[in-house]
Amino acid sequence: MEIKKVGVVGSGTMGSGIAIASARAGYETVVSEASEELLKKGLDSISRWLSKRIEKGKLTEEDKNQILSNVKGATDLADLGDCQIIIEAVFENLALKKEIFKKLDEICIPETILASNTSVLSIIDIAVATKRPEKVIGMHFFNPAQTMKLLEIIRSIVTNDETFETVVAFGKLLGKEPVSSLDRCGFIVNRLMFPYWLEAIRALEGGVATVEDIDKAMMQGVGLPMGPFTLMDFSGLDVTLDVANALYEEYKDKKYAPPILLKKMVAAGHLGRKTSKGFYDYKK
Ligand SMILES: NC(=O)c1ccc[n+]([C@@H]2O[C@H](COP(=O)([O-])OP(=O)(O)OC[C@H]3O[C@@H](n4cnc5c(N)ncnc54)[C@H](O)[C@@H]3O)[C@@H](O)[C@H]2O)c1
Repeated sequence: MEIKKVGVVGSGTMGSGIAIASARAGYETVVSEASEELLKKGLDSISRWLSKRIEKGKLTEEDKNQILSNVKGATDLADLGDCQIIIEAVFENLALKKEIFKKLDEICIPETILASNTSVLSIIDIAVATKRPEKVIGMHFFNPAQTMKLLEIIRSIVTNDETFETVVAFGKLLGKEPVSSLDRCGFIVNRLMFPYWLEAIRALEGGVATVEDIDKAMMQGVGLPMGPFTLMDFSGLDVTLDVANALYEEYKDKKYAPPILLKKMVAAGHLGRKTSKGFYDYKK
């Protein structure tokens, strides 16, 4: 199936980035939000990002106008009804995602593929809210979605080959490098990265080394661009705790158990960059 029109549900951090990637690849892209106010916020953030690219000399004013002309906003999901693919990027809440997939299933043409950008929820749990579970799939973009190349594509146990192949081809046309994962919590990246992140916190709790020295060791010893504490602060410690809890819930393996320090920091509201305090202090 040829994809011509793309729907994106949610224009927060991920939805706005996915919309940029889609519009930049030349697709007519409809972004839906819960209210006019939130939609304006999302569309403004898209425009701001494109302007910054112009300032950096990576884009021309003409490119920006071309990309923006491919983006339309909506507050009614019915405006997405004739899209060939819709990527959902709303809050990480199973009940909300199921409600949206149920509505999309009712209003969309039979060909529409319904994708979720969920980080830890099970694709089959979302798919069963629809009458087209074989056309439901995971498309897990990485933040910022408009620049990060990796795209994890997740088939549930009932996703059909045609849906999978269409989404792989579409991902490549967005300029992404698709990898395929089974519908298992954490997919590939979070499943492998979380034991390392959580072990870094346990090493800190155990007095093995300081935040700064653990970050420095992993950057200079392993060649990583960022140490674990810098990256966790960037992602948000609340999100880190949610993902660790979901992994632990699924596998019941103590390597995924959230360390006490992480729980206490989240309880204290020390969530990383977004609250100016996490493992590092950003108030200075
Ligand atoms: N932030 C990340 O680093 C990251 C990375 C990969 C995947 N994800 C996943 O992507 C999804 C979105 O995360 P985010 O960080 O962009 O969240 P976010 O809070 O920045 O954005 C979510 C957006 O969804 C909107 N929304 C809520 N209900 C809606 C509805 N009924 N209709 C339309 N829009 C609605 C909200 O108004 C909000 O703007 C989550 O499932 C998350 O787990 C996040």
